[in-house]
Amino acid sequence: MNNTQVLLKRRPQGVPVAEDFEAVTTTLVGPREGEALIKNEYISMDAGFRNWMDEDAGDAVLPAMALGQPVMGLTVGVVAESRHSSLKEGDLVMGRLAWEQYSLAADDFLVVLDHQDTDTPTHYHLGILGDTGMSAYFGLTDIGQPKVGETVVISAAGGAVGYVAGQIAKLMGASRVVGLTSSDAKGERLKSELGYDAFINYHEPNLDQQFSTTCPAGIDVYFDNVGGPILETVLNHVNVGARIPFCGAVADYSTKRPQGPSNLFQIVTNSVRLQGFMTHLQLERYPEARGQLTAWMKSGQIKSLTHEYDGVAQCGQAFADLFAGKNFGKTLVKV
Ligand SMILES: NC(=O)c1ccc[n+]([C@@H]2O[C@H](COP(=O)([O-])OP(=O)(O)OC[C@H]3O[C@@H](n4cnc5c(N)ncnc54)[C@H](OP(=O)(O)O)[C@@H]3O)[C@@H](O)[C@H]2O)c1
Repeated sequence: MNNTQVLLKRRPQGVPVAEDFEAVTTTLVGPREGEALIKNEYISMDAGFRNWMDEDAGDAVLPAMALGQPVMGLTVGVVAESRHSSLKEGDLVMGRLAWEQYSLAADDFLVVLDHQDTDTPTHYHLGILGDTGMSAYFGLTDIGQPKVGETVVISAAGGAVGYVAGQIAKLMGASRVVGLTSSDAKGERLKSELGYDAFINYHEPNLDQQFSTTCPAGIDVYFDNVGGPILETVLNHVNVGARIPFCGAVADYSTKRPQGPSNLFQIVTNSVRLQGFMTHLQLERYPEARGQLTAWMKSGQIKSLTHEYDGVAQCGQAFADLFAGKNFGKTLVKV
């Protein structure tokens, strides 16, 4: 059987570009005993996977990606054929596979989804009901906990996590929700499509002054997806008792020398709570998160927004576009 795959052709130097990846057609043989053949339907583009593209990248979370091999990524797909003990033909599964049409899965890390639930589009499991939507939910309900009267700032505000976080912050009662983004055009979309009250374009000069103007009552919750120099600026504007759900550091992923804040003492003097979290380690809480996100969607209080590409061969371009800020909503490649 022919299989289109996208390989890691060379290790990205800094920010990834489409030429770091190569689409090829290979012949797939299998499944062998103990394996299932998965027909991927959607591939999720996640900036975080840039972390494992460097030579020396392997850590406790994932191994470094191998050159010349299909790029690792989250997918949702259907079991087309199975010689696996717990996966059966027709199962809808989500998990870490690769940028390819068909995958052979031997491990048990795949999550079997409820395929009877025909109301839920399959791509929701990579977006609003997947790792990114649930990160917004856990970060805000566990750590951020915005209250009426408070100001919430969200970085990468139009990205897969940020666009959900902005909507949840409003729902939880925040009085002012401000999105950080890379262009005025994206900022206007944050306001008109997602209910953000205001935006800051971090490419404009004098970020510090922009925070003073846009967050006149200071910052009570900073949902951080980018880390780096923006976090440093935010720390100069936090209120006493502020909370910072630290979800990701996309500004650091493409550099060997990440720039950390030099003003961490602000966290002490303002009694700030800064806490990191990993959504995929909270599997037992997925039903709670999905249940609440689904209820909010059904009642029209939040919406799903996707930025889609067509065909596996587009994966490299789609991934590069995340770092060029071309996306708005959850980036997906339809296989
Ligand atoms: N903790 C967890 O369990 C967990 C789970 C999922 C994701 N994450 C993390 O959450 C963060 C957001 O992921 P996502 O999937 O929402 O993002 P995404 O959809 O992949 O989009 C990335 C966004 O980051 C912004 N960006 C890119 N380069 C940047 C830079 N150098 N400085 C500032 N902003 C930059 C761009 O938005 P602009 O154009 O607006 O700048 C871009 O749209 C990532 O750090 C990811 O690793 C964490």
